[in-house]
Amino acid sequence: MRGLILSGGRGTRLRPLTFTNAKQLVPVANKPVLFYGIEALVAAGIMEIGIVVGDTREEIRSAVGDGSHWGCRITYIEQEAPLGLAHAVLISEDFLKGEPFVMYLGDNLIKNGITALVDEFRVRRPNAQILLAHVPNPSQFGVAELEGGRIVKLVEKPRHPKSDLALVGVYMFDPNIFPAVKAISPSWRGELEITDAIQHLVDQGLIVEPHVVDGWWKDMGKVEDLLEANRLVLETFEQRIEGSVDAESRIEGKVVIEKGAQVVASVIRGPAIIGMNAQISHSYVGPFSSIHNNVKITDSEIEHSIVLENAAIESINDRIESSLIGRNARISKLSLKPRAWRFNIGDNSEIGVH
Ligand code: DAU
Repeated sequence: MRGLILSGGRGTRLRPLTFTNAKQLVPVANKPVLFYGIEALVAAGIMEIGIVVGDTREEIRSAVGDGSHWGCRITYIEQEAPLGLAHAVLISEDFLKGEPFVMYLGDNLIKNGITALVDEFRVRRPNAQILLAHVPNPSQFGVAELEGGRIVKLVEKPRHPKSDLALVGVYMFDPNIFPAVKAISPSWRGELEITDAIQHLVDQGLIVEPHVVDGWWKDMGKVEDLLEANRLVLETFEQRIEGSVDAESRIEGKVVIEKGAQVVASVIRGPAIIGMNAQISHSYVGPFSSIHNNVKITDSEIEHSIVLENAAIESINDRIESSLIGRNARISKLSLKPRAWRFNIGDNSEIGVH
């Protein structure tokens, strides 16, 4: 069985994060979202993985490499434009070599992995297997209508959804998907929709098995979503301390402290991760915080936040919470007079003071 990860699409700035154009590379618990997909496939025993890339091909390639980091082999498949998920399947036909495959959308994060589902697909051999999740806002997804546990209708982003069951971005197919992606026409948004291709399978009387899952999340665009994904992933951690913690510090609960990190006279309350070579001193880092590599937090308090590489927080008396702090950002208390807030912040940023 092969894997196909979709990491193409348009390069859009992820406001307020500007360091990457690829939403698949935004870090969740200090790791790019895309890596969770690769790991899920490898855990399911899939070692031949194709990654469909578009505008952001260079960024994706330099982050992922040849796959040796995960013991798998990665082949890059160029998509000339984001012409749809079914188009991505179409151009990957040579790579997939007639084998059954798992298609995984590179911006999706699935809490419980996919190993059990892939095993079931391997044993039962339906023509396709799709994952569904109950969501509060189905019109933003592909939506499935079931009758007696069988799929009757799949519609992409319906205005008036007939159910709250959204298609999750993991699909399993056998080679019958190729005639289907060739048979369909572009949708109103000009894309060849995988949803329409799966409907085509259903209409042809082929076997498409639905699975309702829970605990998943997608859309790397908004800060709230990122914080939510961060919570979800941090909760699955176990304590692992590889950096140094001095005698004056306290580490509570599920905390990961990476190599080279230093914790001095501080309290770290999990679930939380402190990245490589980060320095936390005379500070409190509270639950659901991801502190990335080389971050410096001094004499401050922070929780439920994501702090990206090389940022520095110094002498902030009030607690910082529910915040996303970008790479190389600096927040500090100044002794300059007059006493005032001084900001030097990028476009589309948000600051909340009390
Ligand atoms: O996340 C689940 C949803 O994903 C499903 O419910 C929908 O049925 C499905 O169509 C898809 O919807 P989106 O509109 O959210 O897909 P998006 O354009 O965000 O693309 C998903 C991933 O695939 C993303 O990592 C970019 C990549 N992609 C997308 C297109 C359109 C490609 O690699 N090539 C493409 O042509």
